[in-house]
Amino acid sequence: MSVAVYPGSFDPVTLGHYDIIKRASAIFDHVVIGVLNNTSKIPLFSLEERVNMLKDAVSSIDNVSVESFDGLLIDFLKEKNTNVIIRGLRALTDFDLEMQMAQSNRMVAKDVDTVFLSTSLEYSYLSSSIVKEYARYGVDLKNFVPECVTSKLIDKMNKL
Ligand code: PNS
Repeated sequence: MSVAVYPGSFDPVTLGHYDIIKRASAIFDHVVIGVLNNTSKIPLFSLEERVNMLKDAVSSIDNVSVESFDGLLIDFLKEKNTNVIIRGLRALTDFDLEMQMAQSNRMVAKDVDTVFLSTSLEYSYLSSSIVKEYARYGVDLKNFVPECVTSKLIDKMNKL
């Protein structure tokens, strides 16, 4: 069975992420979404909130599961018995960092490969940071995040 891990912060999940998840799920038998518990960044949403929003967003895709992880991605890959990482590439601006991460992972785990999927054009400008900024100023979020995320994002912004 082919398994791949799609890692990220997902703070929150956007339609750009969803597009990558959907397409990866058509390529691999199973996709595990790995939500990073990053102790060096303060996310807007807690780990539990990010995992639950993702679970909600992908509930109709049978071969996708959502889990959180701490520490190194390569250790999470081992735990999931795979050596394949999925990442979305939006534009040239993503390239440097993505190559750095892919090469670093291969330096420490030689059998690990990163499969890049080019983001669909309509989401090539989208990021979780832009979505949060739009939410703060009351922009309609329907073209940016899954429906289940919209009200949670608005609630969160109102509480800030
Ligand atoms: O959504 P993001 O924030 O761009 O995702 C970045 C992520 C989670 C893929 C990356 O930070 C990561 O893999 N972190 C885990 C720690 C790790 O393995 N670091 C070494 C490789 S860069």
